[in-house]
Amino acid sequence: MGIIVKKVLIALALWCLVINTREIAACFVTERDALVALNASINDPDGRLSSWRGDNCCNWSGVRCSKKTGHVIQLDLGEYTLQGEINPSLAGLTNLVYLNLSQNDFGGVSIPEFIGSFKMLRYLDLSGAHFAGPVPPQLGNLSRLQYLDLSGSQMVTVDNFHWVSKLTSLRYLDLSWLYLAASLDWLQAVNMLPLLQVLLLNDASLPATNLNCFPQVNFTTLKILDLKSNTNLNSSLPSWIWNLSSLSELDLSSCGLSGEIPNELGKLTSLKSLALADNKLKGGIPRSVSRLCKLVNLHLSRNILSGDITKTAKSLLPCMKGLQILDLADNKLKGNLSGWLEQIVSLRVLDLSTNSLSGAVPASIGNISNLTYLDISFNSFKGTISELHFLNLSRLDTLVLSSNSLKIMMNHRWVPPFQLREVGMHSCLVGPQFPTWLQSQTRIERIDVGSTGISGMLPDWIWNFSSSLTSLNVSRNNITRKLPASLEQLKMLTTLSMRYNQLEGSIPDLPTGIQLLDLSHNYLSGSLPQKVGGRELYYLLLSHNFLSGVIPKNLCKMVSMEVIDLSNNNLSGELPNCWNKNSHLYTIDFSSNNFWGEIPSTIGSLSSLVTLHLSKNNLSGTLPTSLQSCNRLMLLDLGENNLCGNIPKWIGDGLQALVVLSLGSNQFSGEIPEELSQLHALQFLDFGNNKLSGPVTHFLGNLTALHLGRPEWDAPPFIEFMVYGVGGAYFSVYTNTLEATYRGRMLIFGKCYFLRSIDLSTNQLTGDIPSEIGSLSALASLNLSRNYIEGNIPEELGRITELGSLDLSWNNLSGSIPQGLKLLGMLSVLNLSYNDLSGKIPSGFQFQTFDELSYLGNVNLCGAPLSRICLPNGSKHRHRKLHQRFDMVTYLCMLLGFASGFSIVLVILISSAAARKAYFEFTDNILNKLHTEADLKLHFNRALAGRNLSMPTESQNSLTCYHFEGPPSPS
Ligand SMILES: *[C@@H]1O[C@H](CO)[C@@H](O)[C@H](O)[C@H]1NC(C)=O
Ligand SMILES: *[C@@H]1O[C@H](CO)[C@@H](O)[C@H](O)[C@H]1NC(C)=O
Ligand SMILES: *[C@@H]1O[C@H](CO)[C@@H](O)[C@H](O)[C@H]1NC(C)=O
Repeated sequence: MGIIVKKVLIALALWCLVINTREIAACFVTERDALVALNASINDPDGRLSSWRGDNCCNWSGVRCSKKTGHVIQLDLGEYTLQGEINPSLAGLTNLVYLNLSQNDFGGVSIPEFIGSFKMLRYLDLSGAHFAGPVPPQLGNLSRLQYLDLSGSQMVTVDNFHWVSKLTSLRYLDLSWLYLAASLDWLQAVNMLPLLQVLLLNDASLPATNLNCFPQVNFTTLKILDLKSNTNLNSSLPSWIWNLSSLSELDLSSCGLSGEIPNELGKLTSLKSLALADNKLKGGIPRSVSRLCKLVNLHLSRNILSGDITKTAKSLLPCMKGLQILDLADNKLKGNLSGWLEQIVSLRVLDLSTNSLSGAVPASIGNISNLTYLDISFNSFKGTISELHFLNLSRLDTLVLSSNSLKIMMNHRWVPPFQLREVGMHSCLVGPQFPTWLQSQTRIERIDVGSTGISGMLPDWIWNFSSSLTSLNVSRNNITRKLPASLEQLKMLTTLSMRYNQLEGSIPDLPTGIQLLDLSHNYLSGSLPQKVGGRELYYLLLSHNFLSGVIPKNLCKMVSMEVIDLSNNNLSGELPNCWNKNSHLYTIDFSSNNFWGEIPSTIGSLSSLVTLHLSKNNLSGTLPTSLQSCNRLMLLDLGENNLCGNIPKWIGDGLQALVVLSLGSNQFSGEIPEELSQLHALQFLDFGNNKLSGPVTHFLGNLTALHLGRPEWDAPPFIEFMVYGVGGAYFSVYTNTLEATYRGRMLIFGKCYFLRSIDLSTNQLTGDIPSEIGSLSALASLNLSRNYIEGNIPEELGRITELGSLDLSWNNLSGSIPQGLKLLGMLSVLNLSYNDLSGKIPSGFQFQTFDELSYLGNVNLCGAPLSRICLPNGSKHRHRKLHQRFDMVTYLCMLLGFASGFSIVLVILISSAAARKAYFEFTDNILNKLHTEADLKLHFNRALAGRNLSMPTESQNSLTCYHFEGPPSPS
């Protein structure tokens, strides 16, 4: 804003200087000819140059002449929508003082060199005019130039700044959105401009030169400095900035800055706007901000600032009476809001979200009467919010209280003084009644009251926000009864999330613009509508209901769709076989239904498919060979069907991205193909309970993702689908899960690629256990039980250091139990029963913890815990409890580098890098709080797609376990 004002002021000043009101009668023929030539060479689709006729060019539109000399001194063709080339004859206007060609489309030609010949030029604006190529250094001849704006042409480059250093009269320089990556000398050049007042280099790819290695600033008259979004600067805050004592606006957001904000900040006493957001700044907010008495806007969000906000605020207060924007979101600030906040009466925008603030929210906040935006979500605030908090907040537009322990208790007759556009109360206590005061909010666009303890039927009036409501999230409440038969009147609605409620009846007709429909985990029944939403539906989530009937064929035609989850219903019939290449599906989950028939061959045309869940149905036949074209597939779950035939060799050739391959509990027969050795990402292999025969294959040792220390092992890829919630937060709409049995118990894994397991049990496999299995040091579970495997237990099993569960029961194994197994410090389940093992059972270490059930049916085994005594007598070992018996989940979490104990677990990968604002629901993940208004559909998905679906690894360093049912809380 300020920048624009400044720009206008400087422009006006120059204009007054140039133009005297009365115009002279005639113009010089040479100059007229130059203009005529320009007009002839240029394309003027809007006829803006139609007045360029007659002799007196001084009267032509955009042209001004000097009163004294009669020469053309101004050419102002900004926003004339001109196209084409600039005729060099223009160079004939030798007396030009003012030249504006901005916002035209010169189609990627170079900036003409002859502009450098306008010796009198003081004002030059070529912004947004679609030039390309290097800036001609001839511009350096414009020694009288005061105003230069070349911004907005990303194709324009500057390789060195030498020419800039010669523009010694310059007061205003805007090179934003140019490509300046090669301009190592930019700062030195700018330092030769002692009169400079405004320097704008926003998003200009500035190179990572050492900003601090700089002697002394010359341009101390600088008022506005904007280097925002030059992400490569990678330095600490440069110290010369603190000498710019006239600075009123400083924007260094998104510059990759690190280190602390020094106390010298207090020297910039003229500052009105300070933006250092989205950097890596740490430490406290320096006390010296108390000297910035003119401050209006303060943006420090998305850093790692710490310390007590109360202390900072109190030192600020005497001076901060004019503060309008206080944005400290996404830091690590502590403290509370009492005793200071209400004193900043001028506040319009307050964003303190995603910090560690605590205490009550003082009701005096209701006196900050200009407040329009209030976001305190994702903190640890406690206590009650009542009408008093909003007493005078008549301008409030956005209210976000989510993810705090707040109880929101309004009198049900309360009529708020405001009209909100967005309201977020996620995970606060609002219910049991749906907040009646929302009824008065006729402009409301986004409502998030998920997890707020609301029960009973939704009020009818909520369906009347037909002209405004775009997003409604009432998930995880106890909403009962039916939805209206049609919601089509909600024309603006794009997001409807009602998962985890007790809704009954059938799926309502939906508005055509719907993008996300999540009615999963309810009691809905009836069949799927012929048409669910319109072409823009991205996410269709209807799992865990009682839906029946067949899948309508239209589903194949919904080409925007990315995720379909119809799992855990009573759907039946054959799967649709009409999928096509235009689709963008990432995930299909039809598991746990009654589908029958073959797997449709057209699934092979879904080249973007990453996860396919068809388990727990009655599917039969062989795997369609077309499936091998789904080469991005990471999870293929076909377990518990009646599929038959051989396990195809092409799985190894075509599906090399596979992390999870589950074909268990089917009728697959034949040998396991050696080609599967090419599955280098595989971490979970379930072929159990089939009719496989032949030897246990040696290739298992080649599953390198199961070798400890492999990069894949640390950062398994996954995808997560997020949508924009309220107040800039994102929430997860879908996470891939896989149900797996581990140590006899059912687990549900979110981002399940962490259970590293091989299960070949209950088949007809023969031969020895290949010793190569010993190289799978990251394997957590190995189950070869109920086969015809013979020979000894290889000593090499002792090298699988992560092994927690080993089941070799019901085979023909012989020989003794290798002593090396004692080294398996994680082992807590061991089943060797019903083999032909002999000799003494190893003792000590983990073996202390196994009872005789581990060894039943081996008549020749002896020693503790069996009562059979070994002959000759072995000496008795004292029982030492070296290792506690872990409960299953503790163990799992240890695998993940954390310890935590619950009975059912979700393993959640948290990107810990920049920001942590998203709802932890079930398997909800966290994503950077992006400040874009992008509605649904993330760039995130797109970015992932572009990157072959692998996540940026730097953000994957923390893992947490959450209880399945409990309210997970961010650690
Ligand atoms: C300051 O600017 C003058 C010219 O205006 C130049 O001679 C001098 O070298 C500059 N100082 C620095 C430290 O760059
Ligand atoms: C609120 O904003 C108005 C302008 O919109 C301004 O005149 C008034 O002074 C502001 N109130 C306070 C308390 O700052
Ligand atoms: C739903 O109601 C049941 C009992 O009626 C209660 O135990 C449960 O906590 C409620 N759930 C929510 C999300 O309010």
